[in-house]
Amino acid sequence: MDFQLVLDQINAELRPLLGQGGQVARYIPALARVSPAQFGIALRTCDGQTAQAGDSAVPFSIQSVSKVFSLTLAIQALGEALWARIGREPSGSPFNSLVQLETERGIPRNPFINAGAIAVADRLVTLGDGKAELLALLSRLCGEPIHIDAEVAQSEHDTGFRNTALANLMKGFGTLDNDVTTVLDVYFNQCAIRMTCEQLACAAGYLCRDGRHPLAGTPVLSPALARRVNALMLTCGTYDAAGEFAYRIGLPCKSGVGGGIVAVVPDHLTLCVWSPALDPTGNSLLGRQALELFVAKTGLSVF
Ligand code: DON
Repeated sequence: MDFQLVLDQINAELRPLLGQGGQVARYIPALARVSPAQFGIALRTCDGQTAQAGDSAVPFSIQSVSKVFSLTLAIQALGEALWARIGREPSGSPFNSLVQLETERGIPRNPFINAGAIAVADRLVTLGDGKAELLALLSRLCGEPIHIDAEVAQSEHDTGFRNTALANLMKGFGTLDNDVTTVLDVYFNQCAIRMTCEQLACAAGYLCRDGRHPLAGTPVLSPALARRVNALMLTCGTYDAAGEFAYRIGLPCKSGVGGGIVAVVPDHLTLCVWSPALDPTGNSLLGRQALELFVAKTGLSVF
């Protein structure tokens, strides 16, 4: 299949729609300043072919896409024990909702909503230096140094009122082992990591290769755990739009409010799309359309 042609066509079809809908994330000031008129797409196949179009080399704030990689580190170290105080069910609620935590004894529904990712960050603090290990994992996975955007991290700290509430609520229920401030520092910094579509398409590559490193071929996760991360992405990776994503796209996906979405076609390729304007569920509007077009043009879907 000529993937470069497919991505060029998607870019040509969607570029005229830039600026015609959606809104950049406003609750994090450093993200509110990003120009919405950007669209990038990149993929990398299991045999190392790459294709890219549009703003695929422009770094952006990966935000909740980081939750795939923090989950990878935690599950690699803890295995099934990770699930002692984190659920694996879709929430059907917005990613920053507090409601279920109160009625469900402080156990977050899954590791991809904010509460669940904060609980995963807590486990990374127990295991070592979560921030450094996440950057090291991402740098290894894409073969290039990866950095945190200090301005975005500060912005997250300054305005993370709901995340602070989620963390305190969980601490009160005994879901977090470590100090709330230390855990939130890891969480805010992981959200502020900057990467390009090309880097993310490569870094996520272990998810389409039964857990094997995209460049070195060595194990990052066991095949069983890689399957489980994909299952969680499909059912929980796009929050209260996960059903709609499964219905329209049918690929494990993980989105972030920076406008990035990583998608996996198991045994074929990993794909990253980015466009900063979001729909009301916090998923990139054009990113979602791009994935729908990709599946329609290639027939690649898990269903
Ligand atoms: O904690 C937050 O709200 C953001 N730093 C990340 C949220 C996010 O990306 C959810 N994605 N759709």
